[in-house]
Amino acid sequence: MTALLDVSELHVALGRGRKRTEILHGVDLTVAPGEIVGLIGETGSGKTTLARAVLGLVQAQSGTVAIDGREISGLRGGALRAFRRSGAVQYIFQDPLRSLDPERTVFDSLVEGLVVRGGRGRAELQDAAQGVAQLVSLPLDLLSRHPGELSGGQRQRVVIARAIAVDPRLLICDEPVSALDASTRITILELLLRLRESGDVGVLLITHDLGSLGGVADRVVVLYQGQVVETGTTDEIFLAPRHPYTRLLVMSVPSIQDEEPPDPELRRALRDELRSLTANSAQAATRH
Ligand SMILES: Nc1ncnc2c1ncn2[C@@H]1O[C@H](COP(=O)(O)OP(=O)(O)O)[C@@H](O)[C@H]1O
Ligand SMILES: [Mg+2]
Repeated sequence: MTALLDVSELHVALGRGRKRTEILHGVDLTVAPGEIVGLIGETGSGKTTLARAVLGLVQAQSGTVAIDGREISGLRGGALRAFRRSGAVQYIFQDPLRSLDPERTVFDSLVEGLVVRGGRGRAELQDAAQGVAQLVSLPLDLLSRHPGELSGGQRQRVVIARAIAVDPRLLICDEPVSALDASTRITILELLLRLRESGDVGVLLITHDLGSLGGVADRVVVLYQGQVVETGTTDEIFLAPRHPYTRLLVMSVPSIQDEEPPDPELRRALRDELRSLTANSAQAATRH
């Protein structure tokens, strides 16, 4: 089966002139239809840069990004704009307040993407808004409210519902629950699970801590300093992490800590191992 998202050997550099640095060093990643893939990595590891490359917002130096078998990394000009307008890839940002217009009602936000595409009357837009609101369990009386009148979790539901309204193939959720409290986190993650059941949309769920994946991901990809260092099923990653960075991540998940308190000796040894690995790869990079 063709992967829904297929990122292969992706190199991305950012910045201009002498400040230009390579952020992603040959990243491989796939998401199948109906699959939830967790992308985990510390702040600055290149997660958002990868998301932006998949959205066609930054260009690759080399490597490819394909959606449904169609390469989008080479698109330019009108073809690139048409791809973005198609809404095939939807991006959900960490902070729902910043991604919602405070002046617009929930209804207006929900149908924004459909209005841009045109061709729908008021009644159709009403139906569409109610449909996606129900899908994310957003009470219909909130449709006439403004973002400032909603809770954090409700706002994040609006953002997710707005993304779903345009019938995307891939949903990229960039730290979607980092700004939310624990119980709201769970309802949002459950929502992603329900979405997967209702269609064949793929989800790339980006986060910096394993705990906030809440076990919803089918597969986990670990990004460290712009490279994928490990990938496996959620169980494999939690129960038998191999890379020292992944092992440190797993040790810092609270629910795992309860069963087995973290061993400071082991933690120190893993940090040392990680440091020497990083030093080796830096040497390898300068030899090129
Ligand atoms: N526009 C930019 N120009 C130069 N460097 C950038 C730019 N955007 C991000 N970076 C750098 O790229 C690295 C990865 O950033 P980012 O992809 O945002 O990481 P993450 O989302 O994992 O926190 C960071 O070191 C960041 O400083
Ligand atoms: Mg980021």
